Amino acid sequence: MNILILGSGGREHAFCWKIKQSDLCTQLFIAPGNAGTAQLGENMPIDINDFEKVKEVCIFRNVEMVVVGPEEPLVKGIYDFFKNDEILKNIIITGPSTYGAQLEGSKAFAKDFMKRHQVPTAAYGEFDVNNFVEGIEFLKNHSLPIVLKADGLAAGKGVIICSTLAEALDEFALMIQQSKFGEAGKKVVVEEFLDGIELSVFVLTDGRNYVLLPEAKDYKKIGEGDKGLNTGGMGAISPVPFATEHFMQKVKERIIEPTIKGLQQEEIDYKGFIFFGLIKVNEEPMVIEYNCRMGDPETEVVLLRLKNDLVKLFVAMDEQKLDEHMIEINKDVAATVVAVSGGYPEAYKKGIPIDFAYLENPEAIKHIDEDGGVMVFHAGTKQEDGKVATNGGRVLAVSAVADSLGDAIELSKSILKEIFFDGMYYRTDIGYEFVD
Ligand code: AMP
Ligand code: GLY
Repeated sequence: MNILILGSGGREHAFCWKIKQSDLCTQLFIAPGNAGTAQLGENMPIDINDFEKVKEVCIFRNVEMVVVGPEEPLVKGIYDFFKNDEILKNIIITGPSTYGAQLEGSKAFAKDFMKRHQVPTAAYGEFDVNNFVEGIEFLKNHSLPIVLKADGLAAGKGVIICSTLAEALDEFALMIQQSKFGEAGKKVVVEEFLDGIELSVFVLTDGRNYVLLPEAKDYKKIGEGDKGLNTGGMGAISPVPFATEHFMQKVKERIIEPTIKGLQQEEIDYKGFIFFGLIKVNEEPMVIEYNCRMGDPETEVVLLRLKNDLVKLFVAMDEQKLDEHMIEINKDVAATVVAVSGGYPEAYKKGIPIDFAYLENPEAIKHIDEDGGVMVFHAGTKQEDGKVATNGGRVLAVSAVADSLGDAIELSKSILKEIFFDGMYYRTDIGYEFVD
């Protein structure tokens, strides 16, 4: 079948790489894609939030499956758009309905859902202009630090951890009275600060059944030792050493299963990924957030360990037959290290040529096989004047698979040493807590 992938980051390049290996994949299209996806399929230069344009591509390219990378089209209702369209309604599309996508699109919706289904999460209050004064009292009586979250999508910037009451009161007023995070951010979830270690857990669900994918840990801060500003993610590892069988059993029983049952009970149409952003507090898993898509850069390690044919899983998801599939996971360790533009996550330049032999000759380094190897996923790149140039903050995700975490990291770093572009930066300490 012809398959269309929506998005342009490392996650989408990883989807391409995995999907291309499926016997079921005939032609692959990526909208808008990057210089890496262009090597595996045909890039379509469209705005993926313009659903009429996505429809045109589906019609003219006989697309039978759409894999949605980022959250924005999902939260804006691409699934419902397809299901309500006579021509598109039989196309398989990964993602929840618009209603279900609120698990990511509205923090208040997600918290209320967790409360209804007894999914462990931080205690919270919900405030907007109508109960602003009550909110001030709530803040004054709360312990510190305290976490403020803008309700709607805020490009990863809508969470503020405040260590003083003065800061909390200021931010609270800015969000509600000055629309700091836009209209959707005028509703604020205020929650207790959870002290623990985070991990990302992923399932693919058909709304009734689910399959558990390999877990991962991402490294969000720009600086070594998890210091400095938050980014989209500077690297990731899988498996996560503290995600023992015992711990994952608790995750399934207390978090994944009540969530899937909740979707079913509330008759929420949900066929797609659920990304559980979890935190381990005193050995117990709690939910920090739900996302309705895969993580980036987590996908760049998760898919390297997944042995199953992903396209077959998507077909089973569509037919609500995921219970007939067993997930097979490579026992090796995967790590990815992201090379970013100078200045990121603040202002950075684009269009800087990348000097890396592999870009012109993908066979120059060893690809992933049974014994491990390396895969360089493009994130913010484009083809310019016959050369690959930077086109975003996160530029390349260098993923490696090896017998141990230390070896995977070293392999990834050995490839990064061969990459040059002006201002390039990467963290050398991905996975540091788990390597001697
Ligand atoms: P979110 O956008 O919900 O993923 O939040 C971004 C980051 O803020 C998370 O990955 C956590 O590191 C942090 N965070 C969010 N909520 C809490 C909380 N209740 N306690 C501690 N840290 C939090
Ligand atoms: N790496 C975190 C995310 O994709 O949201």
